Amino acid sequence: ARPAASPSTLLGFECVPTSAADAVSVPPGYRVQVFLPWGEPICGTYPDFDRHGGNSASEQAEQMGMHHDGMHFFPAEDATGRPRSDAGLLVMNHEYVDWLFLHPRGPTLTAPRPADEVLKEMNAHGVSVCSVRRGEDGEWTLVRDVRNRRITACTPMTVTGPARGHRLMRTAYSPEGTRARGTMNNCSHGVTPWGTYLTCEENWNHYFGYRDAAARPALDRYSVSHAPGRFGWYSTRGWETVPSEADPDALFARFDATAQGPRAETDYRNEPHTFGWIVEIDPNDPHSTPVKRTALGRFAHEGIVFQPPVEGRPLVAYSGDDATFEYIYKYVSRHPYRAVDAGGHLLDDGTLYVARFEPDGRGRWLALRHGENGLTAENGFADQGEVLIHARLAADHVGATAMDRPEWGAVHPQSREVYFTLTNNTSRTAGQGDPANPRGPNPFGHIVRWREDAALPASADDPAVEGFAWDIFAFAGDERSGSVAGKPLDAGNIFAAPDGLWFDGDGRLWIQCDVSAEVVNQGPHARFGNNQMLCADPATGDLRRFLVGPVGQEITGVVGTPDGRTLFVNVQHPGETTSLDAFRQGRYTSHWPDGAPHRPRSACLVITREDGGVIGGGTPPDP
Ligand code: FEO
Ligand code: CA
Ligand code: CA
Ligand code: CA
Repeated sequence: ARPAASPSTLLGFECVPTSAADAVSVPPGYRVQVFLPWGEPICGTYPDFDRHGGNSASEQAEQMGMHHDGMHFFPAEDATGRPRSDAGLLVMNHEYVDWLFLHPRGPTLTAPRPADEVLKEMNAHGVSVCSVRRGEDGEWTLVRDVRNRRITACTPMTVTGPARGHRLMRTAYSPEGTRARGTMNNCSHGVTPWGTYLTCEENWNHYFGYRDAAARPALDRYSVSHAPGRFGWYSTRGWETVPSEADPDALFARFDATAQGPRAETDYRNEPHTFGWIVEIDPNDPHSTPVKRTALGRFAHEGIVFQPPVEGRPLVAYSGDDATFEYIYKYVSRHPYRAVDAGGHLLDDGTLYVARFEPDGRGRWLALRHGENGLTAENGFADQGEVLIHARLAADHVGATAMDRPEWGAVHPQSREVYFTLTNNTSRTAGQGDPANPRGPNPFGHIVRWREDAALPASADDPAVEGFAWDIFAFAGDERSGSVAGKPLDAGNIFAAPDGLWFDGDGRLWIQCDVSAEVVNQGPHARFGNNQMLCADPATGDLRRFLVGPVGQEITGVVGTPDGRTLFVNVQHPGETTSLDAFRQGRYTSHWPDGAPHRPRSACLVITREDGGVIGGGTPPDP
């Protein structure tokens, strides 16, 4: 345990030790309930979960998806209109799937793959909307509610903003370029000031491939490859993974982006342009069509986080592009925020900026506006739609700073300072370090922080929108290499690969870790144990390990109830460290949460205190 005398009045719990056990550990005085695991029925006919992977694709579309990630709790209101802390909608992303555990005997690895198997994978992606309630006994349960909903990689969506109707958005499914199908690889998320959910499309490029003889540089810049993608969802002739006759709606064929497809109705060369966006979902309207908001740019969106809005000022939000040497972006709405009519239109008209971190601790936001900063037709940007569809190319052009994999951001609720995790980058060489990404290589990651010259500019044209001052809040690592606010780390808070990041209403900064399955608990990463969640007081630099998860997972997704007394935390892909051979022999690295011999399942943790206090805060319970 940590020394009793703590400089922080915000943090009031004992550090949890690192652990490699297949279990969840939390501080003394805390309780954990496992909630809404993969496969839990939530809507439609509420089909029972089959522990052996035997549910059909259509059953999966009415159950919790796999790989729980970013989430938000939308509280219900009491009779006087105040937010409740015992009921609401829990909305969460399902980033991707674990082939081994999704199917009875793992995936069919020979072509053609059974269509229902591929469709089940698509239906295990996306978003879940769950009505939830705390009972008299303190346990949280799902409520059968018409708002419960699954959104998948097949759900019809609308496209809005400057890229709507663009020639590069036209597909066989939507010749007008105004609609798209599905969302996938939804990593982190955002919440609008008007109470809608934003889901963010991260590593969508892995699902596509193309076979053109000539390279398509814009696809290459987004790492869309010439090989079939990670799950082999194609049905196009010659790359046949699902028989064409089993794919009448081209649900699978669209993932082959080859130019000049064999038939006009399967010309999906622009399909990759319909992913990489931020998608707005109204969780209260189960019949609403999700909206891809193109003004926010197209890249590997990790998440989006807003400055708290102020009446009459533009809305300001940040989003990271999580790949090595990619960028951090900011969006500023053209129209001012007004509570009375705030809505998605504020996300359709504005300026996207990209960050340049200068060596002197200053930074600049560079506008990605067509006709400015060299973003002209001569340089390959025909119009604003193309600037946004090819946001990475535009950002390259204006000279943004290449970062060590920007993941989540968080805005301090009072100071408005912005924190961003840079999870790691082992590709950066010693000579490639810069002041904002000083380690080459950077195996453990760091957290950067900035203060805007004007967190809320007077208008979108306010020159103060472009300047900021930055520093590095924390270097992840062990006792020798890690530090927070300049203080060395210790046994109670060493960590690696910061990813999830969230401020609670009191200003506690929650940090979640994602050391990848390839290196977790090995070599220099062995010290950190299984992936964990920590809590920081940014004012004092106090940092404590709050939770350690089971084997082979990452901790990702965190949100509290309005009273701060219940915390929801997601555990993603336990047992991902299981090899195909071990799977076939029934030897899984994790059996969490159901125990041996069952398959591991992603799930949500509901964390409360035995004394009913605020999570993370208060007086530490007596030992
Ligand atoms: Fe899906 Fe960047 O984590
Ligand atoms: Ca992440
Ligand atoms: Ca990550
Ligand atoms: Ca993951």
